Amino acid sequence: MMMDDLKGKVCVTGAAGFVASWLVKRLLLSGYHVVGTVRDPDDEKKVGHLKRLEGARERLELVRAELMVPGSFDAPITGCDGVFHTASPVIGLPKSDPKAEILQPAIDGTLNVLRSCKKNPSLRRVVLTSSSSTVRARDDFDSALPLNESSWSSEELCHKLNLWYALSKTLAERAAWKFCEDNKIDLVTLLPSFVIGPSLPPLLCSTASDVLGFLRGETEKFQWHGRMGYVHIDDVALSHILLYENENAKGRYLCSSTVLDNHQLAAILSARYPTLPIPKRFVKLDRPHYELDTSKLKGLGMQFRSIQEMFDDCVESLTAQGHLPLIASSLKPTS
Ligand SMILES: NC(=O)c1ccc[n+]([C@@H]2O[C@H](COP(=O)([O-])OP(=O)(O)OC[C@H]3O[C@@H](n4cnc5c(N)ncnc54)[C@H](OP(=O)(O)O)[C@@H]3O)[C@@H](O)[C@H]2O)c1
Repeated sequence: MMMDDLKGKVCVTGAAGFVASWLVKRLLLSGYHVVGTVRDPDDEKKVGHLKRLEGARERLELVRAELMVPGSFDAPITGCDGVFHTASPVIGLPKSDPKAEILQPAIDGTLNVLRSCKKNPSLRRVVLTSSSSTVRARDDFDSALPLNESSWSSEELCHKLNLWYALSKTLAERAAWKFCEDNKIDLVTLLPSFVIGPSLPPLLCSTASDVLGFLRGETEKFQWHGRMGYVHIDDVALSHILLYENENAKGRYLCSSTVLDNHQLAAILSARYPTLPIPKRFVKLDRPHYELDTSKLKGLGMQFRSIQEMFDDCVESLTAQGHLPLIASSLKPTS
């Protein structure tokens, strides 16, 4: 039997992205045949790292697709048993038009992908990469109780505070649930918190650049985060595959290791990497305290790596890529 026959064929949208590249890596290592969609398969700077993954030569196809082009995903999705829809704009601040830059590609793009899923008779399940920002952007909850998957971010608050990314993910996930219920598509959604770890793409995505900035002493982005959940990129990839493979997976799944205030994160990291100029002072924001309840995903067997492990891997990789001085990771404690 060929390796392809063992695990079947799956599509990953936005395959060259930070999260998706690691998912593709894990899917190939597990024996899947992967069809990865990218906006430009000829752009070696964007896709070269995917072609070099173990198993890529035998089991990775890269196909052009664009979220805003109707029918663009028909060809890559046809014949796949599973679809991992990760493509979505991850932009902190839009240049001029949040609707065109963030909201439409996220929401209309998700529906575009799902329309292609509907046309595919061999489809078994869709795993949508949503975000913990679809749960926590609200100010009307009891801080004593951890937020779980029953919570949805407030569209009103997102509008009021210009939280375009959170709004895009919230509306995209809601639209996906409605479309899949109407069309009897088996959908499961994964809601990662802030993803930390090595970047396979050599060009750092927006969140990975924010982390690099923080490790180099910039306060701005993490000041705005205030309190945030963090999760290791490999745990995010493994969680996607767990939700795809586990017959009992149903509904939404928060995916997060630890929630920390920015000053708590800064204290852990400055003690661990004393040579890095990690910011020390943050203005306390008037936002509600929250925890995330991840017992649903843990109930399927997922175990999350610690803050220390995710940042060790991240710092090591940023150092190897030349973004941080060598001394940062060589002075890292061994425990
Ligand atoms: N990073 C995090 O902390 C985090 C946390 C929770 C959830 N997520 C979710 O994880 C997914 C991936 O995010 P990421 O952090 O890996 O960011 P990323 O590296 O910027 O990946 C985003 C991907 O979406 C693709 N994309 C954007 N607009 C597109 C369009 N109009 N047509 C086709 N493809 C388009 C990008 O393609 P190009 O490569 O061509 O630009 C890229 O591959 C997103 O759904 C995001 O919401 C991320």
